[in-house]
This record gives sequence, C-alpha cells and structure tokens, in this order.
Amino acid sequence: MKQQVVTIAGGGSSYTPGIIQAILDNQNDFAVSEFRLYDIDAQRNDDMYTIIKWMLNKQRFNIGLTQTNDPEVAFTGADFVFSQIRVGGIEMRKVDEKVPLKYGLVGQETCGLGGFSYGLRTIGPMIELVGFVQRYAPDAWILNYTNPESIVAETIRRTYPKAKMLNACDMTISIETTLCENYGYDRKNWIQTYYGLNHFGWYKSIFDTSLGRDVMPEILDKLKAAPLKEPEFHRGDKFWAEAYAMMSTIVTDFPDNIPNNYLEYYLYPDAVVEQSDIEFTRADAVELGREKEIKETAQRIRETGRNGELNHDFGAHGQYIVDMAVSILNNLHRRFMLIFPNMGAIPNLRQDAVVEVPAYVGATGAEPISLRQPIPDMHKGMMEAQVAAEKLLVDAYFDHSYQKALEAFTLNQTFTSARKAKQVLDALIEANGDYWPELR
Ligand code: G6P
Ligand code: MN
Repeated sequence: MKQQVVTIAGGGSSYTPGIIQAILDNQNDFAVSEFRLYDIDAQRNDDMYTIIKWMLNKQRFNIGLTQTNDPEVAFTGADFVFSQIRVGGIEMRKVDEKVPLKYGLVGQETCGLGGFSYGLRTIGPMIELVGFVQRYAPDAWILNYTNPESIVAETIRRTYPKAKMLNACDMTISIETTLCENYGYDRKNWIQTYYGLNHFGWYKSIFDTSLGRDVMPEILDKLKAAPLKEPEFHRGDKFWAEAYAMMSTIVTDFPDNIPNNYLEYYLYPDAVVEQSDIEFTRADAVELGREKEIKETAQRIRETGRNGELNHDFGAHGQYIVDMAVSILNNLHRRFMLIFPNMGAIPNLRQDAVVEVPAYVGATGAEPISLRQPIPDMHKGMMEAQVAAEKLLVDAYFDHSYQKALEAFTLNQTFTSARKAKQVLDALIEANGDYWPELR
C-alpha cells in the first residue's frame, strides 16, 4: 500500500498528539510517510511540532514532519486531511461560553448561543479550508472534527456538496466506552443504532452480538439506579463527571432511550446555568489544563531534549477518526456515527437536515443507514426546531442578514425569549468583531 501523507489542519491543537499516536499504533493498516502540521498560529504549531518530533524520535519512527502556515505546502500531495481548527482559539471559546451566561443562558462551545457564536465564526474559514483541499489535493479525504459540526456540515452541504469529507464526532464512542467501563460490556460486540443532530441525539438500540440481545433496556435500568460515572481518562474532571452523571438524570425523566449527554443543555438549561461559574468555565479549565501542559512540555523539550511525555490520556478521540481512515484505506466497512444530509435516513424528518446516524465506511466513503421507522414526536419536534435554527444561522452568514440571525437565535432550543436572543446577539456581534460577517 502506498505510504500516506497526512495533514492536520489546526496542527497546533492539543488533540494532535492523540491522532498522531493512533496513526503510529496502526502502521500496518495505515502506513505514513509524512505528517504535516498546518496552522495559522505559528507559535502553537511550533510547540506541537516540537512535541510530535520528540514522539517520532522516541518511538524510532522514520516519518517526515513539516510545519507550515502555507496551504499549498500543507495540502499538495496529501492523502488525508484531519481537520480540527478552532477559529479564534481558546480566547474566543471563553466569549462563546461567557457572554450567554451573562444573560442567564447556557454558555457552551457547541450548544446554545455559544455554539451559534462559534458557528458564525467558523463558516468562512471552513469554506476556505475545504476550498484549499479541492485546489491542492482534490483526491484527499477530509475527516472533520471541527465544531460546531452541524453548522460546518450544513455549510459544506451547500458549498461543496461533492467534497470527499466525513464529518465525525467522538461523543457517541465516548458515551459507549463509558457505558462499557461502568457496566462491563465490550464495545467491540456492539451494533449501535442512534439518531439525532450533532450533540443532540438518542440511541434506538444497542445489539450485543456476544449476548444475542438488545442491551439498551438493561443499560437504561442501570443508568436509572445510580449516576453514571465518568470514564477513566476523565477521572477527576468535574465538567465531564457532571456531564455523564446528567445522563442518569435525563433517563429518570425520559426513560425510553439512552440520550447523548449534550441534551442536558436543551432539556435542563436552567439547571446547567445554575451550576455554571462565569468566572471559570470549561475554556478556563482547558487553558489551565492540557493547553498549559502542551506549552510547558514543548518548552522542556527545547531546553533539555527530554521529558516530552504528556500526562493526559487522549481517550477514544484520536483512535475513532483514525479507525475511519483505516476503514477507508482497507475497505473494511466498519460502522461509525457520522453527520450527513438526511435524505431518508430519518424518514419523518426534513430531507435537507444534517443528521447524525450510523454509516458503514469503506473505499468509496460512507454509506449511511436508514432507520426505516419514524422517530417519536418529542425527538422530531426538538430536532425540527433546532435544524431550522441552524439553517437560519447559515442563511444569516450568506445573506449578511441580522434578521435571519435573530430568528436563528430566537429558535435555538436552549431557551425561549426573543428579547434575550436579541440582547445576546448584539453582545456577540460586539464580542466577535471581524470574526463575524457584517450583519445588516
Ligand atoms: C467532546 C465533543 C467535542 C468537543 C469536546 C470538548 O469530545 O465531542 O465536540 O469539542 O468534547 O472537550 P473539551 O475537553 O475541550 O471541553
Ligand atoms: Mn463532538
């Protein structure tokens, strides 16, 4: 098999080592000749270059490594592009989380008005990025983790409908790994059926091939009996501990499906706001945690040439997206949750919604499955409203429309108040400055 050239867009991200390590662990199925780190932030890219160089040397890999902010250098000849950019960096993540909170609304990077703030910032750069790949590496696969995924997927559905791009999120695999760790199942035996929007969905069944039955009913009983504990790799992380525990709260009230933990922002926004601390949101925790560790580690390697190990475990994040690449390269038809234009996958939902459903991934890309049954009204109602809100937000970008943005904000499913929607929209226009298109 040809050795692959892999470009990581957003190379400076603290998730890069996890992706690279997963590729290094899979050299039999995914042989790589070169990694390229592409980032507009030269300092972060150089920190990551230093760490990855150290990883390659330490594990004695003879693989090329390039850092660049030039798209032509980054993409020409690339076979895979892993995209994980964060437009505006951690500073703007703080804005996304804190501005809505100031008005008593959910402050989160991908859900609620924070997600919409981040969305309007990300649409332009994502169109540019996919455009670069079309120009310099039209045959490359783009495996995308860039958030907010629903907004990104809706944008690329409109602008580059034929792009070789898979939009993925690691949340379902993280939930599944956590359930397995808590209750003693083996995820390798699972055939999961799930539907929703990104960070907004429900399991329909989890068939366990070793047990020969759907284990969702018994998992629901276990979730109701005691709060779900966070997985090993997030042990001691208060944010994730609360998020997983909330899954138990959700099933106490809505007992029929295992929920995505992110539904807490839509079902219990008031409780989430009460628990939030505007002085210390998730962005602050990430900055003082793994972001700081990356900076310090890079500096230590530069000064001493040693001690380049990172302390944090990367969880399933890197492995999941690398498994997708392996499945494409080796035509394995493994099953993943991915984000697609609906087109019948969820029969009773509008066809042009972007939805998250299972798909089989092979050499020609992904083949999503159809549920072939309607979803319940509660889920459908929530999804239809949220889809409309997301579409209005993308419309607002292309039409430079304040009105569309206001409608998107008002319809967002984390609250109901046109007055608050307008206040937060105006505050976010101010806070995002040139990151946002001009809204007239
Ligand atoms: C999960 C989600 C991602 C999200 C991340 C945030 O992995 O699927 O979409 O970006 O959590 O994690 P963080 O540690 O940065 O808060
Ligand atoms: Mn995600």
